[in-house]
Amino acid sequence: MATLRLLPFVLTALLVAAQNEAPSSSVAASVSITAAASSTSSALPPPPTESTYYVIPVSPVPFTPLPSPSDPAPIPGVFPSAAPNNPPPISSDPTVVPDFAPAWAAAYQKAQAKIAGFTLEEKVNVTTGVGWQNGLCVGNIPPVYPIEGRGWPGLCLEDSPLGVRYADFVTAFPAGINSAATWNRALLRTRGLYMGQEFVGKGVHVQLGPMMNIGKNAQGGRNWEGFGADPFLSGEAAYETILGMQQGGVQACAKHYINKWQEFDRTMESSNVDDRTEHEIYGHPFLRSVMAGVASVMCSYNLINDTYACENDRTLNQILKYEYGFQGYIQSDWSATHSTMGATAGLDMTMPGDIAFGSNTSYFGYNLTQFVENGTIAESRLDDMATRIVAAWYLLGQDAPTFPNVSFNAFNALDEVHNLHIDVMADHATVVREIGAASTILLKNVNNTLPIKGVRSLTMVGSDAGPDLLGPNGYTDRGGDDGVLAMGWGSGTDQYPWLISPLEAIQARARLDHTLVSWFLDDFDYAGVASNVQGQQMAIVFVNSDSGEQYITVDGNEGDRKNLTAWHGGDELILTVAANNNNTVVVTHSVGPLIIEPWVDHPNITAILWAGIPGQEAGNSLVDILYGAWNPSGRLPYTIAKNASDYPSQLVLGGTAEDILSINYTQGLFVDYRWFDAQNITPRYEFGYGLSYSTFEYSNVEVSTVTNADDQYDAELIANWEAGLPNPLTVGSSTALWLHAPAYQVAFDVKNTGAYYGGEIPQLYVHFPASAGEPPQVLKGFTNLNLNPGETQRATITVNRHSLSIWDVAAQGWVKPNGTITFTVGASSRDPRLNGTFPA
Ligand code: BGC
Repeated sequence: MATLRLLPFVLTALLVAAQNEAPSSSVAASVSITAAASSTSSALPPPPTESTYYVIPVSPVPFTPLPSPSDPAPIPGVFPSAAPNNPPPISSDPTVVPDFAPAWAAAYQKAQAKIAGFTLEEKVNVTTGVGWQNGLCVGNIPPVYPIEGRGWPGLCLEDSPLGVRYADFVTAFPAGINSAATWNRALLRTRGLYMGQEFVGKGVHVQLGPMMNIGKNAQGGRNWEGFGADPFLSGEAAYETILGMQQGGVQACAKHYINKWQEFDRTMESSNVDDRTEHEIYGHPFLRSVMAGVASVMCSYNLINDTYACENDRTLNQILKYEYGFQGYIQSDWSATHSTMGATAGLDMTMPGDIAFGSNTSYFGYNLTQFVENGTIAESRLDDMATRIVAAWYLLGQDAPTFPNVSFNAFNALDEVHNLHIDVMADHATVVREIGAASTILLKNVNNTLPIKGVRSLTMVGSDAGPDLLGPNGYTDRGGDDGVLAMGWGSGTDQYPWLISPLEAIQARARLDHTLVSWFLDDFDYAGVASNVQGQQMAIVFVNSDSGEQYITVDGNEGDRKNLTAWHGGDELILTVAANNNNTVVVTHSVGPLIIEPWVDHPNITAILWAGIPGQEAGNSLVDILYGAWNPSGRLPYTIAKNASDYPSQLVLGGTAEDILSINYTQGLFVDYRWFDAQNITPRYEFGYGLSYSTFEYSNVEVSTVTNADDQYDAELIANWEAGLPNPLTVGSSTALWLHAPAYQVAFDVKNTGAYYGGEIPQLYVHFPASAGEPPQVLKGFTNLNLNPGETQRATITVNRHSLSIWDVAAQGWVKPNGTITFTVGASSRDPRLNGTFPA
């Protein structure tokens, strides 16, 4: 157990917070959403008044705002006029880097002018949520009155990373993990854009997503909200999602910063991480979020190296704001603020505002006012906090008079005053269906079992094939598992408008071919299953595995998964089907990896489809894959191991309620496939794996240096980097354009040698010299191509200097390791097809 190293004022605050122990935000939400009686006043209420305040430390903390990092424009290879409404074009191989600095500078100018008209208390109010359930959204920043002219309308902050939570007539998009499994930048961007439009359509200013914690542990309850186990893939997914969301007009919120990865003891665990690992693995998606111009970042519940995330000067001020050059604001996770002095560590906004839900106290609010008035916290720091928040609002153009009012009540579905039932779904179901198909991973396909052709009778087995007995939204925050699984549970959910089950979709499709259809949805009646599948030309058996946020326990799983086996006796169910039908197709709807050894090699199992949690069109997406309307192109965003113990990290349980649980990130850089490669452990299906109905051949690899990218401006930095010197630490040094602008291009041919049109996802893995201390290979690029049978296309993967660097802890900079850096390009992390060497 680690001991808390906290200053006395923090301890005082902690004691007060403990006395005010609140239920989890979302528990309260789930209780009240079903309570018809709960109501909210018609306008957002005035800020809360606090009666409690704390002993103020005596030494003033000085503050100097950070300059905005930018290079002089224009830089070739850089997209200089980037603004949220004008992001760089979608490309499967992006070759421009957006420079959001000018857009931020313009937003800052407006924000500073606005803030200049605010009183001290009004500036404090901009940083302080109104308190739990005191507004229409899960988080609310009060207006500055009068709103017209001098004032400001405040903010609505709303979950989730996959759709507008607690609202109706919204789309239930595929989860983050599915979007990552597409490895398709266009789909990632489009999903973000459509979500952004829906949030704005409902009057939301800030969408509380995307979630980008690395799936370090396969059992982590909220992994499915994020983008998998690899930092590069997660980084690209975060980047594209945010560009899309913000183009849609909503502020994105990169969460949870940082090292939040298991649900057990999430507010009482210290993630102990070394600086290199932090930079190369866990920080990377946040770095990419900053590069996408993200408006907001949410600090997490946990501690990092024994200091709470929301008062961690190292991670907030030093890394995020200084080194990454983050221009937006940092908001706390719900009740993750631990002191007023967190403001000096970089925290800009406290959410939902009160110390404990309903406590009518705040670490900001009155206390922040006092701390500023007596000089402990510099007023320039408060100005900086308020400026960052208001600047983000301007950055997104939310000052437009056309920006909609909030038109739902997150806490009362029956409030007919505020729930205007505005339909914002447009035709987004189409892209949900497409992403669902594009994220479905074909793991096994013996003798071209799929796509289905000439099957005269089929049956579907397992409750996951059918509808939920309680309806799609029968369990609050989706905290139950019955019927097809298309979302995990917790705050990362929204209401399904409908949920297309495989039973419904397959039956509708099968009748076109006059295929006889049967089903058997009882997971435990094995005799019934056996007789149902006998004599069928194909038996499709469905199993699932669910997880979510800790405030709901489902089937003994307190958020995190207890184990990695299929739910509802899934292994037994599959074995029963396979024992009675020699054309058994397994479909999984799972939040993450499962151990599938009991049945994967069964000779009667002819195909396996890994469908993840694909959102509202689950059945339709599956039909597109089963019948070949979409040739599978999804690839695993994590490793499927043969044994749970093969993974490099496990849940950390134990401890007492008072202790801080130490979670030591002993596997360092060796997360997921990096560990399997280094330890020579054979996985069942490796990271990046996925079959197609077609086959692809790779040839003619060439690597070239991208010339003139930005030499004239950053010649010295580039020369230093090439000479193996670390880039100097300064504001924005880790997101500097020269470090991320194209440096090398790897080109190669991909030929479709099979019979089906379809997509291939070439992946580039960098192999550093042994002296670099890196894993054997690390993903640093991918692209996607669509090819007709017989067609060849030239693909490119562009690589930047950052991708060829490691973090030098002593120098605090990115450095190109000494020696030869090579690469492989292939169809998965264990299927290299081509290789080469980056020019020295
Ligand atoms: C979750 C956040 C969420 C917030 C608001 C917290 O419990 O960790 O991800 O955005 O609640 O609902």
